[in-house]
Amino acid sequence: MPLQWNPAWDIGIDIIDSQHRRWLEIFNALERSFLQGESMYDMQLSTFKEMLDYTHLHFDAEEKLMADSGYPAFSSHRRLHKDFDTLIYRHFRSHESGEAMLTSEMLQMMRNWLIAHIQSEDQKIAAFLASEGKAGSQ
Ligand SMILES: [Fe+2]
Repeated sequence: MPLQWNPAWDIGIDIIDSQHRRWLEIFNALERSFLQGESMYDMQLSTFKEMLDYTHLHFDAEEKLMADSGYPAFSSHRRLHKDFDTLIYRHFRSHESGEAMLTSEMLQMMRNWLIAHIQSEDQKIAAFLASEGKAGSQ
């Protein structure tokens, strides 16, 4: 089932909220191409690349927000980003080289990570910004 955005996941910063929505859309497109089978290899590869590129763009934006606002857990949050990035990059390269195709387990892991991260870690940024009176002002 496609991943649906839950409005409770909004952190109150428009650019981050709209990027999270777009991120989920790309994930859904990747999952759709996977479900269509290996004949959709080229589509899977280009969507996987899009997921990777968008992950970088999004992490950069979020890390800039954390740095600019003086978010205290910035470095540990950035570490979580880095670990996820490394993991999906490795899977992307395996898929690209034909060494190991995308699997449902991999998609499930990505799905779980996205939901858990948005729901917990990114909400902590929202709580910090709200406590600083900065939510919705950037
Ligand atoms: Fe994050």
